[in-house]
Amino acid sequence: MAAAIIQADGIVAFPTETVYGLGANARSPRAVAKIYEAKGRPTFNPLIAHVSGIEEAFQYGEFSNQARWIAERFWPGPLTLIVPAREGICELARAGLDSVGLRVPASATARALIKASGCPLAAPSANRSGHVSPVTAAHVLADLDGRIDMVLEGGASTVGVESTILSMLETVPRLLRAGGTTLEALEAQLGVRIATGPHAGESIIAPGQLTSHYAPQASIRLDATALERDEIGLDFAGQLAKSAKMGHRIMDLSPQGDLTEAAANLFSYLRALDEAKRQIAVAPIPHYGLGAAINDRLHRAAAKR
Ligand code: TXA
Ligand code: MG
Repeated sequence: MAAAIIQADGIVAFPTETVYGLGANARSPRAVAKIYEAKGRPTFNPLIAHVSGIEEAFQYGEFSNQARWIAERFWPGPLTLIVPAREGICELARAGLDSVGLRVPASATARALIKASGCPLAAPSANRSGHVSPVTAAHVLADLDGRIDMVLEGGASTVGVESTILSMLETVPRLLRAGGTTLEALEAQLGVRIATGPHAGESIIAPGQLTSHYAPQASIRLDATALERDEIGLDFAGQLAKSAKMGHRIMDLSPQGDLTEAAANLFSYLRALDEAKRQIAVAPIPHYGLGAAINDRLHRAAAKR
């Protein structure tokens, strides 16, 4: 059913281990255009092309030895590699760039859908533009019901933050977005330090790199060490709980201080707290490992709109 919709140029939301994606045939501009329309993306930004295996990725992008090395070690998984484009992924999906973002998701459901469809799937996160990314099928429907052809149910995403985006376009790999694969793990395999920030002389094209992305309605106060009167708390390892008063509501991303658990809970908890329509105080989160991706999303959520 889902594959038949993709083959007919429809759009299907599907689970991945990071967040739910909104997928369409990456070869078909007509299908890809529907993604932008459903999300209400103001401009055409490049989409990640999801493929079912490494060989398929090699078909659509040019992989240096270094890019191959990383692909073989981290795929399937929460990592997107930007490489020079070969034929196949349509220009609209690449937003006219001569590079392409490729990812082999770890989710078996996602890979089964790609295989059954017989084409790569261009897919951004399955939320309205600027909203918090969905980690359940219910989140997808809350944002996009009536605007998409189908959502494939696959339970809650296990990683909970989007893929790490690593550009392999220069000699030194460059981190374009922190995400589900840690910088530490990548550097350990590469044996070199990874550069950060946008490419030299390039204005930022990645929407995931715009501030005020992943934005809840409520305002957010970061690095809070205690709750103020009318706030609700997004805690980590019980830091805010210590000073909480009666009537304060707190959700703890990980009472044990486990960053993997915190990443998995992040977007669900932000959505839940947002419903209270009060300022959200967020406890400090350590900056190593998955903490880098968590802090990145929290800073964007807190950015003034
Ligand atoms: O985990 C994820 O990455 C999820 C799931 C569905 O795979 N997808 C996702 O897609 O987060 P999206 O569209 O929200 O973010 C994709 C990012 C954007 O910031 C986009 O600009 C960047 O990837 N991107 C894609 N192709 C690129 C390219 N050729 N050069 C630079 N950035 C690129
Ligand atoms: Mg997104």
